[in-house]
Amino acid sequence: MTQTSDASTGKKRLFLRSWGCQMNVYDSHRMADVLAPLGYAPVDAPEGADMVILNTCHIREKATEKLFSELGRLRVMKEARRAEGQEMLLAVAGCVAQAEGAEITARAPYVDLVLGPQSYHKLPELVARVSRAGGHVIETEFPTEDKFDHLPEASAPQGVTAFLSIQEGCDKFCAFCVVPYTRGAEYSRPAASVIAEARRLVGQGAREITLLGQNVNAYHGEGPDGREWSLARLLAALAGIEGLERLRYTTSHPREMGDDLVAAHRDIPALMPFLHLPVQSGSDRVLAAMNRGHRAEDYLRIVDALRAARPDMALSTDIIAGHPGETEADHEATLRLIERVGFAQAFSFKYSPRPGTPAAGAPGHVDEATKDRRLAEVQALLRAQQAAFNASKAGQAVDVLFTGPGRHPGQLSGRTPWLQPVHAEAPAAMIGRLIPLRILAGHPNSLSGELLHPPNPEQHAA
Ligand code: SAH
Ligand code: SF4
Ligand code: F3S
Repeated sequence: MTQTSDASTGKKRLFLRSWGCQMNVYDSHRMADVLAPLGYAPVDAPEGADMVILNTCHIREKATEKLFSELGRLRVMKEARRAEGQEMLLAVAGCVAQAEGAEITARAPYVDLVLGPQSYHKLPELVARVSRAGGHVIETEFPTEDKFDHLPEASAPQGVTAFLSIQEGCDKFCAFCVVPYTRGAEYSRPAASVIAEARRLVGQGAREITLLGQNVNAYHGEGPDGREWSLARLLAALAGIEGLERLRYTTSHPREMGDDLVAAHRDIPALMPFLHLPVQSGSDRVLAAMNRGHRAEDYLRIVDALRAARPDMALSTDIIAGHPGETEADHEATLRLIERVGFAQAFSFKYSPRPGTPAAGAPGHVDEATKDRRLAEVQALLRAQQAAFNASKAGQAVDVLFTGPGRHPGQLSGRTPWLQPVHAEAPAAMIGRLIPLRILAGHPNSLSGELLHPPNPEQHAA
């Protein structure tokens, strides 16, 4: 069967693939929402799709190469479809699209549409232009209007845990990073539209919402009262939504970790005791070279304040190994900072020069072998800390939000307040509910548990 559309429903098939951060995942959902009124329905594989969108990431190297090899595979499918008299519209979205624009259609002329992250609300118009024009269309302007105002309100349910973008772009210009160039200037959505979207998500079954932004704690949206609202203020308002059990936000910058936000972790029970707070390096020299705008001791002070506000607070971070100018002593300082904080989870990367960023042209690039070794040392320490954190939960009673079926029949999987994946035997009716478990064991990447109050088998039979 190589039908253009599902004859029984009249639907066109849309295949979306996302790389990169959670904002890209959110954007992919929204692109599907924008295209739904045009008759596009998501499918799981590119074979036989009427439209394929690759939502790309430019943060580290090989992104562009990965994209072109994926495009090469899709070209074969597109040509096979054309031979059968069918079309496959091929679109490249996201941060590589924004950064490379014309380079993509020059190297892969069979790509129909290239669109940057600020243009997703224009998809219907762009798709129409592609169909009319027959050539390719490139849309990588940073438009003056707010894409969120133009995205449809109706959206496909995301499930028990949902993402909600509240802030986009970045004005921080860390020396190593492409995001300010691919996502543009910082922008915060008005609080009222965030609250309305959160209510809709909860109405569709979401019990946990993660607020997203490249610099989410720099949020300063217009409040319904006409004043500027901080993230802390917004969190307090969202916590009042009936049925919303858990709130998170990511990713934060240490410089924007204000006292009111620290206090929110003490005052808002729904705000989970887990924070992803990238530090990048433990050396003040490197932090300055990175243009991070804070010192190691500032970071440690924030961590202490968070733990004072909420004693069960766990932290996650990002580390870059081998930034230009990083010496052995700087690397040691990073290891010491990691030891001092004790992270529950972390992401660590080898420094990757990004074209056009200040660090790429800076002196003192570290050789690959040294970067590899430093990264391995950082990761060994972080892995041990994560394993220790997971093991520390064994024997404890922990509230788990069940999100879906587990790996084995009769099992469900869920998340602890600290975002650890958990598996336990539990009835499917518990999906979407916050259930107390006893943690049986902490493994390196997950936990196993059992119901603290197993359901009464007789009630169950009734
Ligand atoms: N806005 C967030 C993170 C954005 S990118 C913040 O401010 O922290 C996610 C992570 O990718 C960064 O925290 C950083 O650790 C890593 N990263 C970004 N650019 C990189 C580069 N050129 N090389 C290696 N890692 C990089
Ligand atoms: Fe990139 Fe720095 Fe902005 Fe984060 S704060 S997105 S690392 S420039
Ligand atoms: Fe990647 Fe763009 Fe996100 S570069 S990390 S997809 S903001």
